[in-house]
Amino acid sequence: MNSGLEVQQIKTMENKETNLPSSTPEAASPLLLDAREVTIRFGGLVAVNKVSFQLHENEIVGLIGPNGAGKTTLFNAISAQVPLSEGSLTFRGPEGKIDLTRLQAHDMTRIGIARTFQNIRIFKRMTVLENVLVGGHWRYRQPAISIMLGQRAYREEERKRTAEAMELLELLGLARYAHDPARSLPYGLQRRLEIARALATRPRLLLIDEPSAGMNDQETMELVDFIQNIRRQFGLTVFLIEHDMKFVMSFSQRIIVLSSGKKIAEGTPAEVQRHPLVIEAYLGEEMDYA
Ligand SMILES: Nc1ncnc2c1ncn2[C@@H]1O[C@H](COP(=O)(O)OP(=O)(O)OP(=O)(O)O)[C@@H](O)[C@H]1O
Ligand SMILES: [Mg+2]
Repeated sequence: MNSGLEVQQIKTMENKETNLPSSTPEAASPLLLDAREVTIRFGGLVAVNKVSFQLHENEIVGLIGPNGAGKTTLFNAISAQVPLSEGSLTFRGPEGKIDLTRLQAHDMTRIGIARTFQNIRIFKRMTVLENVLVGGHWRYRQPAISIMLGQRAYREEERKRTAEAMELLELLGLARYAHDPARSLPYGLQRRLEIARALATRPRLLLIDEPSAGMNDQETMELVDFIQNIRRQFGLTVFLIEHDMKFVMSFSQRIIVLSSGKKIAEGTPAEVQRHPLVIEAYLGEEMDYA
């Protein structure tokens, strides 16, 4: 990758609290996100109930659980879209520890957290390229300042932004659609575009909410490769919600299981799969591990 897309050098943070199963190769990686006793209430409903977990650099961690378990709500809390009722969320930002509960949703890209949504959110009328340009927008000067710098500097910056966005699309296999309206892409590619836009913000933590929903088996398997590749290429930590057990178990190093707002299990795919509480929580749902 050229310098434009080089992964940021990350300062290491002291970490005395790694607590991963020994079977996880990332056990020694620095801590990135520390969630403690996270509780989120909506009126009388406890959507997330004292959930604690940690994410480390370069991990892919799956978040599973039946409908209404609180998975999306937990993502909403990490991305400052819903307030915590109790507990703490700490992120290792570029300049040290950050208390996520003090931030607003628009602060997330600056500190290195990006997400996708359960229902794809892209600008359907914009082109594929424009969608990615919007994602990277925050890293550049505002137009008013650029105009003061003069037309040439402004044009130069535009050229650089477009080149970077095209490079990202190239890397993600979307370059040939760059000038097509986003709505014309098949569903699987719209998902990729949403991820591309999130990547344009250069996150260190990428939250992906149910990416395989609505996809056939072939698209799902391609998505597994895609997510593994971007994690490697961008040096990301990926936290991924998934309903499809087979899919999440095929690539997660570690899985956290929520049920009725509570964390009922955490471990490697093999550990979680045979956990009695997980089996119980999924009873009545289709158990499709094979
Ligand atoms: N903004 C909100 N206001 C009130 N209740 C909410 C809100 N968001 C979520 N809930 C409730 O919180 C609970 C958890 O919802 P959440 O969307 O987090 O579940 P989920 O695990 O993502 O489920 P699914 O697999 O269906 O996406 C549900 O009972 C839901 O109705
Ligand atoms: Mg959800």
